[in-house]
Amino acid sequence: MNKRTIRDVDVSGQRALVRVDFNVPLAGGEVADDTRIRAALPTIEYLLQQGASVILMSHLGRPKGQVVPELQLDPVATRLARLLERPVQKLNDCIGPEVAEACANIQPGQVILLENTRFHREEKDNDPGFSAQLAALGDLYVNDAFGTAHRAHASTAGTAGAMRQRGGEAVAGLLLQKELEFLGRAVENPERPFVAILGGVKISDKIGVIDSLLERCDRLLIGGGMANTFFAAMGFEMGDSLVEEAAVETARDLLARGKSRLVLPVDVVIADAFDNDARTRVVAPDQIAPGWRALDVGPKTISTFESALGGARTVVWNGPLGAFEMPNFAQSTFALARVLAQSAATTIVGGGDSAAAVHQSGLADRFTHISTGGGASLEFLEGKTLPGVAALSAV
Ligand code: 3PG
Repeated sequence: MNKRTIRDVDVSGQRALVRVDFNVPLAGGEVADDTRIRAALPTIEYLLQQGASVILMSHLGRPKGQVVPELQLDPVATRLARLLERPVQKLNDCIGPEVAEACANIQPGQVILLENTRFHREEKDNDPGFSAQLAALGDLYVNDAFGTAHRAHASTAGTAGAMRQRGGEAVAGLLLQKELEFLGRAVENPERPFVAILGGVKISDKIGVIDSLLERCDRLLIGGGMANTFFAAMGFEMGDSLVEEAAVETARDLLARGKSRLVLPVDVVIADAFDNDARTRVVAPDQIAPGWRALDVGPKTISTFESALGGARTVVWNGPLGAFEMPNFAQSTFALARVLAQSAATTIVGGGDSAAAVHQSGLADRFTHISTGGGASLEFLEGKTLPGVAALSAV
């Protein structure tokens, strides 16, 4: 990585303004999954150990520039304090005189969490004035929010430039560094055979990454709802399955280009309703009866994928193989997690649902790297420059 990190600068006695990605799921006013909070701990703990004070900022959800009480970061502050085993002072805004005063008085070893940056419209607009107000809160800027590094927003991009204008550094945190190293190796110089597995609902969301991976990987395994669109392009009747009509032509083109490298499901679990308790059958993809829909891939597909993964040295997986939100259609995604956990390959997982499946399977420690980024990991794999990374100081 050609960017400076927190290890390259003297942070002792400095107020580190750290952009983290605490965009975590909440349930009943509590943090339902703290993976992203835990992932930021090494950076926060390193800074505190080195004698810095830490001012954290993050977005949560998509409040569209308004204060939305359910998207305040208080539950995150509570969980973070428990994990850090020290107090976290949660402020009620991310800019303004009270925030400026609290940040001016912070002492080494103390932690402040600012309020959701997206409560201000200027965050998504990457507004220079807003960025300057954020930058004024600290002495150096740290970006550790890999999950949001694909957004050119004020707290992820503009503030880095504003900090440098004030004479401060803008550096990467340890999580951002780790993500870029693991994903970077897969992008630039993967050990071969290199196998990619893509799932999820829409081809249109992933067209860029399919295109780019098709050029670089040895095999590309396709699962999830997007396989339906490939089957429709092959002329199969898909019943009530979700087919992305607008992407059928694209799928046809990808099939022609990727012929020897694309591996599609050989059986699917079909259901008579979009319901966890619907009646199900396992059939070949060209045998879907009217009124039925494909909601998962079947057991033969898992065997096919297992063979296609045989001997792989690098595997990248993004997106569930079925309608993962319903337990009865999450089976193949878990089965794939078990297959990959036994693989000798470097295994890299990105995307909320596939990462959640790996964590829920209890096999997370058998994977080389589980990315905290969904959209960010896709854009990175696609070869795009991430604005949150581009904005940092070069080595
Ligand atoms: C994510 O969860 O992918 C990131 O936090 C970015 O969130 P966004 O898609 O709302 O920008």
